[in-house]
Amino acid sequence: MVHNQLNHIMRIVTYMAALAVACTLMACEPTSQKEAADGKLPENEQKLIDEGRGIGVIKHVTVNDFLEEDRARRGKDIYEMRCQSCHATDTSTVVGPGWAGITRRRRPEWIMNMMLNPQGMLENDPTAGNLLGEYHTAMPEPGISIGDARDVLEYMRTLRVKTAEADTTATAPDM
Ligand code: HEC
Repeated sequence: MVHNQLNHIMRIVTYMAALAVACTLMACEPTSQKEAADGKLPENEQKLIDEGRGIGVIKHVTVNDFLEEDRARRGKDIYEMRCQSCHATDTSTVVGPGWAGITRRRRPEWIMNMMLNPQGMLENDPTAGNLLGEYHTAMPEPGISIGDARDVLEYMRTLRVKTAEADTTATAPDM
C-alpha cells in the first residue's frame, strides 16, 4: 500500500535526521591527536592547546557560579570508585597529583579532556606532558562518559587548598 511505503520512507527520513543530530551532539569533527605530516598539529587543535583547553572532544564547558550539588555528589562517587587509587583530594601525591585547587589552576575544558583523553593529552598537550615528566606514570584511560567527567569536574570544585590562613576560596571557584 502507498500509505505503508510512505510510512516507511518517513521512518528512514526521521532516522537520518536523528543520526545527523546525534553526530552534531557528539562533535563528529575529527578529534584525533595525530600530527600532520609536517609534525605540526592541525591549526584548530593547536589553538585549543594555546588557550589552555587541551585536546579532545571537550571544546567548551559551562560552569555555573553556584555549585551543582547533585552533580558534585555523583562526581565524588565516581572519584571513589575510579580515581581515588591514584589521586588524593588534598595536594598530596598518590600516583598522580592531588586534586585540591585544580579548578583554579586549569580550565574546565582541559580538566575534562585530561579525564577523557589522557593519552592524547600526554602526547600532545605540553602541560600534560610536563606532568608525565613529573609523575613518571601515564594516566590510564579511565573509560568514563562525558557526563561522568562533568560530574567529577563539579566535585573537584569542592576541593580547596587548605592554607594556614582563612580559607579564601569558600565560594565556588570562578572559572
Ligand atoms: C593508575 C593511576 C591513575 C588513575 C586510576 C587515575 N589517574 Fe589521573 N592521573 C594519573 C597520573 C600519573 C597523572 C599525571 C599525568 C601523568 O603522568 O600521566 C594524572 C593526572 C590527572 C589529571 C591532571 C591533574 C593536574 O594536576 O593537572 C586529571 C584531571 C586526572 N588525572 C583525572 C583523573 C580522573 C577523573 C580519574 C578517575 C576517573 C583518574 N584521573 C584516574 C594517574 C591516574
